[in-house]
Amino acid sequence: MKKLILYILFVSFGQLSFSQNDLTKEYNLMPWPEHIEGNDAIFRIDTSMTISINGHLDSKRVDNAAVNFLRRLSNRTGVFIDRGFPLKNQEASIEVSYDSISNLTVNDDESYTLKVQNDKIIIKAVTDVGALRALQTLLQLVSYDEIGYYFKGADIDDSPRFVWRGLMIDVARHFHPIEVLKRNLDAMASVKLNVFHWHLTDDQGFRVESKVYPKLHELASDGLYYTQDQIKDLVTYASNLGIRVIPEIDVPGHASAILTAYPELGSKEGYEYSIERHAGIFDPTLDPTNEETYVFLENLFTEVAALFPDRYFHIGGDENAGKHWNENEKITQFKKEHNLKNNHELQTYFNIRLEKTLNKLDKYLMGWDEIMTPNMPTTAVIHSWRGENEGLPKGGSLISAAKKGYQAVLSNGYYIDRMLSVEHHYSVDPIGNVKLTEDELKRVLGGEATMWSELVTPLTIDSRIWPRTAAIAERFWSPKNVNDIDNMLHRLKDVNHKLEELGIAHIKNRAVILRNISNHQNNSALETLTNLCEPLKVYSRNKGGIEYKSFSPFTLFADACVVDAIDAVPFNKAVSLLKAKNNKEDVSAVIYNSLKKWSTNYDILLPIIDAPNVKPLEPLSKNLSKISKLLLKIFDDEKLSQAEYNELNTTIDILNKPYLDVELAVIESLQELIKFCETNYPIK
Ligand code: ACM
Repeated sequence: MKKLILYILFVSFGQLSFSQNDLTKEYNLMPWPEHIEGNDAIFRIDTSMTISINGHLDSKRVDNAAVNFLRRLSNRTGVFIDRGFPLKNQEASIEVSYDSISNLTVNDDESYTLKVQNDKIIIKAVTDVGALRALQTLLQLVSYDEIGYYFKGADIDDSPRFVWRGLMIDVARHFHPIEVLKRNLDAMASVKLNVFHWHLTDDQGFRVESKVYPKLHELASDGLYYTQDQIKDLVTYASNLGIRVIPEIDVPGHASAILTAYPELGSKEGYEYSIERHAGIFDPTLDPTNEETYVFLENLFTEVAALFPDRYFHIGGDENAGKHWNENEKITQFKKEHNLKNNHELQTYFNIRLEKTLNKLDKYLMGWDEIMTPNMPTTAVIHSWRGENEGLPKGGSLISAAKKGYQAVLSNGYYIDRMLSVEHHYSVDPIGNVKLTEDELKRVLGGEATMWSELVTPLTIDSRIWPRTAAIAERFWSPKNVNDIDNMLHRLKDVNHKLEELGIAHIKNRAVILRNISNHQNNSALETLTNLCEPLKVYSRNKGGIEYKSFSPFTLFADACVVDAIDAVPFNKAVSLLKAKNNKEDVSAVIYNSLKKWSTNYDILLPIIDAPNVKPLEPLSKNLSKISKLLLKIFDDEKLSQAEYNELNTTIDILNKPYLDVELAVIESLQELIKFCETNYPIK
């Protein structure tokens, strides 16, 4: 009997995943819903389409979302929809209802059902935020045929796997104006992310207008800060999208900017504090033994907390090596008197005092995982950013935090500034195969992608966040077994383009940079190169933080290049297929045509080679064309001499070195192709 049940389970699960896989080819949904059944219904989008919000409640969020829905829909389809604003409690082609208005807290119900039939679409949700999520799904169901645009029939019952699905943006290293943040909030909402973590302060700037301590924004921001009105406006904007906003004031380290304004709170007497211009970890640290530090932080937190309705407040707490603490006699004495054995214990003393302050303000303290020390109360929330690479046990600090009784959020694995592939980030599951109890599981709130901005400006930030963060959003929302890479990549293509609809400039700004590089001449050769090159990974750009200052140019070739280089991905796939088959018959059109394109690219670049910022690209372009020509010769059945093979190998060695802060994303495939040729084709 047991065997029979197991068999039935096995067969039905097998079918479930088969049919889900099948559906993912037809529906470009991201994040993929918890339950979906496809059907043959076709709901035509025409001028008579109407949307009505039904029920006795009045959610500004849903009104706003329905208007945005109509605008996006008519802009995308070109259909002149007659009724451009939502109706109320009326018979309509799209009917939306919900049972309550959310206070936007961590455990809000975001579930919804969505039924698309031939002549009616019905959305039902527990909260207004659930209705918002449904409208985003509906926009992803737009399709077209020879007659026109339509919504694809489906029956969806959806809710998220994790309650905390965030994006952190660092506005300290580079300031990002409100409109940049707003367009990214729109994009977040489109993939159902629900937490915007605002990293507001760091060594390179303090970005909040402070009426209590005005020197903070006057002396420590270069004039680049958000007024309190702007902050309130952004929080309202986010709330309308069903997004919570968590502020971060990073202390006691990462404090050069704060101490530029108020040096008397620093740990090193006589130190000339100034806004930091480089990237890295720096020594300026608040003095945790000075009572004035706590007065300052209490006043500042009280002021900042009032701007952010959310219960969670991030105090940073990362990367304090304690150098200035060690050098301060008074601090050493304080540690002895209070029986604090090391700097970790001193920082815990500091954190516990801040937690009391925040509790008075009705806030929970959240901090990077350095705050998780033996004495830190489990009421704190741990933001896990370090993992096995930093010598922590398997599962990193997230799992140990949950086991110890802390609520925790994961960012390790979602550091999008490391410039790693979408495949890499998508493959990181917050929990993996670790066994947790039900309570421990509940304490894993979710995760956040982190956009640190040392090398990121308003011009480039969108292409650093998107589209990879859409795949991360799916990891946080969708069931764990939605994890097929090719399938995700297929759907991501569509999502990637739809992001432009929201003002995301990840595609168009690359062309802006290239036009600047070429001095507004023909860019096609540059475009070919950017589609093959990727920015250096894992912080190897910027030579340990000393090459670029915060005001250096970020309009360089590397800034026009993106992770998952568009032409490299199919080429690499084709070469790995060829390698597996190891047969001359399998040199595919992708390989041949790519080589053909690259072989002539240097000639196309030559007319603009004298532009000062194009000139440095000459060796890269020339060598790539040279290799492509030689490989083509082989595939065209012309034998190469030993000397030509030698030339191939020396040229590939040159291209294998990082150049202008990029790496050639097809380098390994080209090396494979050379090896393949050496073994499969005779030498002249
Ligand atoms: C961090 O990346 N220092 C939290």
